[in-house]
Amino acid sequence: MRDKVVFITGAKGGLGSFITRRFLETGATVVGASRSISQQDFPGPNFTALAVDFTKAVAVNDAVQSVISRFGRLDVLVHLLGGFRGGESVAETDDATWEQMRDLNVTSGFYVLRAAVPHLRKSGKGRIVAVGSLTAVEPHPQLGAYITFKAALAMLVRTVALENKDAGLTANVVLPGTIDTPANRKAMPNADFSKWIQPSKGRCEFGSQPHCRPRLENHRDSYSHRWPQCMNEPQLCS
Ligand SMILES: NC(=O)c1ccc[n+]([C@@H]2O[C@H](COP(=O)([O-])OP(=O)(O)OC[C@H]3O[C@@H](n4cnc5c(N)ncnc54)[C@H](OP(=O)(O)O)[C@@H]3O)[C@@H](O)[C@H]2O)c1
Repeated sequence: MRDKVVFITGAKGGLGSFITRRFLETGATVVGASRSISQQDFPGPNFTALAVDFTKAVAVNDAVQSVISRFGRLDVLVHLLGGFRGGESVAETDDATWEQMRDLNVTSGFYVLRAAVPHLRKSGKGRIVAVGSLTAVEPHPQLGAYITFKAALAMLVRTVALENKDAGLTANVVLPGTIDTPANRKAMPNADFSKWIQPSKGRCEFGSQPHCRPRLENHRDSYSHRWPQCMNEPQLCS
């Protein structure tokens, strides 16, 4: 990964912090973005922090352009940014919740894909990995807005995959269940953490996981799977 330029949205979050560190360990040039991220969050020569609000189209365009201006290329987009809100039925969901879930979970993805795809195509071996949610394929009561826009994100990414096959660009979306992050432990202190997905442990043994094997055979097109451990495997992006 040493010659790769990787752009990570939501790099400072519970999952994002782990993924960003893993990419940095590979020697890749990593640009991590969120609203409040700073250089001190991931000290090291191959990390660049970009403070960006991904719900603003112009800011996202500028951010991608600044990656290109500084490093001359973009090889990997890891789109982790998302937001969660639940607890209300569809009938109880207000406009603000609907719009927030839309903006964080799908509009941000649209903005960054639109800006980044032309550059990823030039890479010749571009890679997009987005993080959706298991709820995108398994609806759950009281999560209507979140689920709707995570499902939309999955379709958006899969569409990008189909549109860019000719350039050797792959686009994949990972659909995790509950992840063991500090925020989740705080929000659900009585849950059984051992049942949650551990971002810091395990790795996707390609072919050995029943859900992984058939999907990975489609790797060059598009796939969704339930093994976010694959996110720990830089090979996914190599
Ligand atoms: N945690 C889970 O159990 C779980 C389960 C399934 C799927 N997921 C998905 O996995 C992804 C990561 O989850 P997480 O729990 O790690 O999330 P998180 O801890 O809430 O992190 C969210 C990140 O996004 C950034 N962010 C929020 N709004 C932003 C905006 N408008 N513009 C730019 N950056 C913004 C935050 O940093 P700033 O505050 O600095 O902007 C932070 O870096 C999300 O897409 C989530 O939906 C999570």
